[in-house]
Amino acid sequence: MAPLFLCFCLSFLLLLLSPIPALSTNSEGNALHALRSKLSDPTNVLQSWDPTLVNPCTWFHVTCDSNSHVIRLDLGNSNISGTLGPELGKLKHLQYLELYRNDISGRIPKELGNLKNLIGMDLYDNKFEGEIPKSFAKLKSLKFLRLNNNKLTGSIPRELTTLSNLKVFDVSSNDLCGTIPVDGPFTTFPMESFDNNRLSGPELKGLAPYDFQC
Ligand SMILES: *[C@@H]1O[C@H](CO)[C@@H](O)[C@H](O)[C@H]1NC(C)=O
Repeated sequence: MAPLFLCFCLSFLLLLLSPIPALSTNSEGNALHALRSKLSDPTNVLQSWDPTLVNPCTWFHVTCDSNSHVIRLDLGNSNISGTLGPELGKLKHLQYLELYRNDISGRIPKELGNLKNLIGMDLYDNKFEGEIPKSFAKLKSLKFLRLNNNKLTGSIPRELTTLSNLKVFDVSSNDLCGTIPVDGPFTTFPMESFDNNRLSGPELKGLAPYDFQC
């Protein structure tokens, strides 16, 4: 009787410890669905985004890796407006966030700084306002950051000079103030990347008739 009881106990224990797939959640799909709920999409670019599917990997404009994690969001030139929310920061595997040439407004969520695998972020030609999040200093894989042609204010966070992989940085045509950083990758960016702001550059050192204060 005792061995049988032991056997029963063990198998019950094993059952408890085994992973139950049905309980796994579709957090990336939920994050994208939350994004969609804040956007206006007059030309139905997001029509295929069906939240009842097991993951978002078959949705148009979404690319997954072989483990069904979202690695690209391609919504450049998509006629979308509205705002971004903190949920986007949950796409932990995202490598490319392409939202350029739309009508997106509001602040850039600081939670985008949680996208540790991000290589490219293109938010140019929108209506983003507020400051460039300091949290972007956590994006250590980032190579391309284009925020030009928006309505961003404040200064360029000095923390961004620690992004040693940054190859392209464009903040031209915003309403930024203060001075242009001179450390790290910032020594390599062309001055055009900073045009049409209220920035005073290191190249104007001693020559600037006035300093654009924030
Ligand atoms: C955006 O809107 C324009 C004009 O309505 C349309 O021609 C174009 O196809 C739309 N783009 C997309 C990606 O739907």
